[in-house]
Amino acid sequence: MAIRNIIKYGDDALRKVSRTVLNFDERLAQTLDDMRDTMYAADGCGLAAPQIGVLRRYCIVDVGDGLIELVNPVIIEKSGVQNEDEGCLSIPGNYKTTVRPMRVTVRAQDRHGNTFTVSGEGLKARAFCHEIDHLDGVLFIDRAIGEKK
Ligand code: CO
Repeated sequence: MAIRNIIKYGDDALRKVSRTVLNFDERLAQTLDDMRDTMYAADGCGLAAPQIGVLRRYCIVDVGDGLIELVNPVIIEKSGVQNEDEGCLSIPGNYKTTVRPMRVTVRAQDRHGNTFTVSGEGLKARAFCHEIDHLDGVLFIDRAIGEKK
């Protein structure tokens, strides 16, 4: 396990579309472990693989109720709307009011390749959307509607 360097805004890697994970191997498990250590060390509530320079479709979220690992995640349902301040470990010190759905359901795979669905509301929905956006090279500032409230 290791703490990885978090890529900062301006690096092209943050704007790339990440590729589907096909191999649920030891390397994936190791990278997920590193991402967990890196996210907790940075006091974040989410981290996506491209943020450590790995252009593959997976991310992690922990909004205080446990770690969720999402491999090849897809948002399959969303409802409602929320406008809250949002930030990103790759854009430190920058917080903007960002539009997100209030509730989302995500279908993903775990580190072993097993498919599951998970739902989230409020902050958790926001975190899912934010991290999944990273897999398509989208940053919260692209969706921001105003300065921090
Ligand atoms: Co981010």
